[in-house]
Amino acid sequence: MCERITVLKFGGSVLRGEDDLAAGVHEVYRWLRQGRRVVVVVSAFEGTTDALVARARGYTDAPSGDAHALLLSTGECTTAALLCLALARAGVPARVLGPHALGLRTRGEGTDADPASIDLVALQRALREAPVVLVPGFIGAGADGNVTLLGRGGSDLTALFIAAELRHEAGRDVQCRLIKDVDGLYDRDPKAAGPAARRYQTLSWNDALALDGGIVQHKAVRLARERGLLFEVAAFQREDCSRVGALGVSWHDGTLERPLRVAVLGCGTVGTGVVRHLAQHPSAFEVTGVVVRDAGKVREVPANVRVTTNLDEALERADVLVEVAGGVDQAHAAVRWAVERGLQVVTANKALLAAHGAELDTWADAKGVRVLRSASVGGGVPMLETVARVAAEVGVASFEGVLNGTTNFVLERVRHGDTFDAAVRTAQRLGYAEADPTRDLDGTDAFEKLVLLCRAAFGAGADLSGLTRVGLVGAGACELPDANGRGAVRLVAWAARGAQGVISGGVGPTVVPPGHAFHVLPGATNCLCVRDVLGATHTCTGAGAGQWPTAESVVADLWDLWRCARTETTCEEVCDAA
Ligand code: NAP
Ligand code: HSE
Repeated sequence: MCERITVLKFGGSVLRGEDDLAAGVHEVYRWLRQGRRVVVVVSAFEGTTDALVARARGYTDAPSGDAHALLLSTGECTTAALLCLALARAGVPARVLGPHALGLRTRGEGTDADPASIDLVALQRALREAPVVLVPGFIGAGADGNVTLLGRGGSDLTALFIAAELRHEAGRDVQCRLIKDVDGLYDRDPKAAGPAARRYQTLSWNDALALDGGIVQHKAVRLARERGLLFEVAAFQREDCSRVGALGVSWHDGTLERPLRVAVLGCGTVGTGVVRHLAQHPSAFEVTGVVVRDAGKVREVPANVRVTTNLDEALERADVLVEVAGGVDQAHAAVRWAVERGLQVVTANKALLAAHGAELDTWADAKGVRVLRSASVGGGVPMLETVARVAAEVGVASFEGVLNGTTNFVLERVRHGDTFDAAVRTAQRLGYAEADPTRDLDGTDAFEKLVLLCRAAFGAGADLSGLTRVGLVGAGACELPDANGRGAVRLVAWAARGAQGVISGGVGPTVVPPGHAFHVLPGATNCLCVRDVLGATHTCTGAGAGQWPTAESVVADLWDLWRCARTETTCEEVCDAA
């Protein structure tokens, strides 16, 4: 499988301030779960550079030189650092490559320099260490090592330069997308009076240079032309974009613009996070109702969200049911009812899917809808996507994973001296544990996830009767194994396809030695290593439980459905890409 990298650029028009960071995280996660490594180049928040210039003018009428460049560079560095922290909150492993670490050398000094080289080895190392690397755009270093800047709009130039350099390596698929507050390039200002502006689907670099340089920096377009680099201009979460390259002009047709109407069943740890995210995107999502057991409970959701105990009422106007209530029987009835009405479904409920997933998929197929389930395995880690992708592209031979955040958290705490019971109580307080934590501790939760991964890896009809389960407590549990200085204890799930396609596997406590991928897994971190039939290993890791990581993957499924609704396509193509 070739290495796939997406270079994204977020300017100050889309990351206007800290309130927009969650939208930035959703965009990064969207590409990450397609199996792509992501480099994110950021500008300063909206208005920051102007404010810094004004500050400098408080001391001199014409600020310039090293001090001025250094002051302006703090805007981009601040955004990169805060976006990295927002990704960490969502459980996405990310690194910041600051100006010195990226080593972007420029030709020329001052505030309008040109990029000459980067430390490609450092960038590649960072991309091996974490799937997401953040880069403050616009900033370089001159011959004397001091800060230089790439001119107004210079983060576009940083992004295109990095993409061009990364593309050198053979067998690498590099995509470069500049995210803007418009959904592409138009032949005239779409907000101006007069005839309707037309949006380009494709255009050449020269066509782009004939347009106003306020959308894409002209210096950046010229660099792309010199390097033969195709790039995209798009808004957050859009499938459609304007593609700029060695291309003739073509135009987009008008597309349907309407919010996706979402009913949410459950408003606990996960549901609250989902509803709060959706409320930030009113033009994309309308929450038709949040269904709970006790409508009188105080909830941390916006006051205009309707909280009800009436599922029918919430489903009445909905396109999608998000099931984040948990349990099996009532969730099953609700999902079945939604599918019968022709609604799409997004669920985080592995217990439901392990028991009834095959049957729900059959009903959903008959109704032409989907039951999306990214959050049901691995919390915020795209495990089902990884396994499904390897299965489709090469074939899965085996996999092993730490699939339960609560037990991993408890084992870590006990290793550091906590009592077992106190550690379980903390995991409950942090929102990691199931409503009944026995399901975590006796290995049931990890076992259900193992079943879902096996179906994705080996086919829905695979015979899984040979899978075994041993947890940390309860029937069949062994005593907590004593690592005795040999390594760390983890609750590991594994499966392999043997001769004649027989699937073996199970869940159980295992001592993992230093150097193993599971040896250093802090807190509720999960990790999955998939071995393909050619012998290569594909690893994904991140936060396996908790409000924001889990909400991130539920919302990613909803953005997929939103893209399908906008383009009036069936969701096969868009969702299967994820
Ligand atoms: P939770 O905090 O216990 O919240 C459950 C919510 O569902 C509550 O708001 C509850 O209403 C509501 N609810 C339960 N049964 C209901 C029913 N019959 N009718 C209406 N509402 C009902 O659970 P959670 O941690 O958010 O987990 C939800 C689902 O996500 C589970 O399937 C879980 O396995 C899965 N999941 C959780 C995580 C995680 O880290 N927590 C990660 C991945 C997947 P009241 O508030 O009125 O009681
Ligand atoms: N209780 C589960 C865990 C939630 O701890 O992993 C995530 O599925």
